[in-house]
Amino acid sequence: MERFTIPRDVYYSKGSMEVLKELKGNKASIVVGGSSMQRTGFLDKTRNLLEQAGMETQIIDGVEPDPSVETVMKGARMMREFQPDWIVSIGGGSPIDAAKGMWIFYEHPEAKFEDIAKPFNIPELRNKAKFAAIPSTSGTASEVTAFSVITDYKEGIKYPLADFKITPDIAILDPEIAYEMPQKLTAHTGIDALTHATEAVTASQASDFSDPLALKAIMMVKEYLVESYQGNQEARDRMHVAQCLAGMAFSNALLGICHSMAHKTGAMFGIPHGCANGIYLPYVIAYNRKAAESKYAEIARYIGLDGTNDQELCDAYIGFIVDLNKKLNIPASLKEYGVEEQAFYDKLDAIAANAASDACTFSNPREISEKELKELFQAAYHGTSYIN
Ligand code: NZQ
Ligand code: MN
Repeated sequence: MERFTIPRDVYYSKGSMEVLKELKGNKASIVVGGSSMQRTGFLDKTRNLLEQAGMETQIIDGVEPDPSVETVMKGARMMREFQPDWIVSIGGGSPIDAAKGMWIFYEHPEAKFEDIAKPFNIPELRNKAKFAAIPSTSGTASEVTAFSVITDYKEGIKYPLADFKITPDIAILDPEIAYEMPQKLTAHTGIDALTHATEAVTASQASDFSDPLALKAIMMVKEYLVESYQGNQEARDRMHVAQCLAGMAFSNALLGICHSMAHKTGAMFGIPHGCANGIYLPYVIAYNRKAAESKYAEIARYIGLDGTNDQELCDAYIGFIVDLNKKLNIPASLKEYGVEEQAFYDKLDAIAANAASDACTFSNPREISEKELKELFQAAYHGTSYIN
């Protein structure tokens, strides 16, 4: 038996935040990041709309990028005191992911992080609260996914929590929030979305339900990401939708080793999540093509790249990503990003071992050993071609 799960409701287009006025309940906890949502007025707007719905609100702010286990536990304690019946998260993937973690420990204070970090091991939710998410970046798609990525800073490792129980009840895609994104954030989150869609097409759980969403997302990234990066508002509207389609796809199809590598080096070397994916993706395709060349060719054909056979089409898709990275000022290697050579080699054994055991590795289209991961990391460090 297979399963395909997405939120019950997705509200989209300008003005969709107004739906907050219609939520039924007494109390809502609003979870938000640093200052961007205060500065741009969207936090006040969220609170006002919830108050118009007759709800008392609590604000849990200060969620840091790549949220920590401690932030999750602190927010859960605040929720236990306040007893919300709605959790409304607004911001990038970080506050939405943190809010999902808080939700688990609000409803299950006795749960242990080690246990819920095991795939599909989260206890029943929605006994106390429902969950709405309002993304302010166009990339992670946490508003529709069954994942939450929490960082253990003592180990310097990101843990992807995975279970359909944390797929939000409501996703609200109001594109005006994304107009405020600075250029670099637009580039990084946009490439994250492209990586989600690409890995979704080739992942082990890819299906007739996920493929159309992923392919459409890739087509939209091709058409709109560069213009969105340049600040064009209509293009930003389209990217806000594209990243969500990619999210619905990968939440069900799962991901692959590009995300394993990004998860295990992002916190370690201080590389933003999407940027790490952008750096690794061309190398990962070079490795995976031995098992999934026809899938990459299918993507290339769908988005109109040139090539007369699968090999040429796969080359064209890698070329497309390399070129897109250049246009978005994403470095072509870890070295170019500025990772110190000594630091890289000191950590190489550890990052290869950690990436090999990342949850995303198991859904990659081609098996990979620690030794092969080391070779792939080295190619991505120096910017050399990965030869199968
Ligand atoms: O903290 P504030 O002040 O809000 O500023 C944030 C933060 O500094 C800022 N920002 C967000 N929206 C903005 C904005 N600035 C101006 N205008 C806006 N509209 O951007 C900075 C980064 O925010 P963050 O939430 O960290 O970014 P992103 O959306 O890229 O999320 C990254 C996190 O999501 C996880 C990543 O691992 C990482 O922790 N992921 C979650 C996934 C999921 N739940 O399914 C899947 C993804 O693959 C990803 O791993
Ligand atoms: Mn991602």
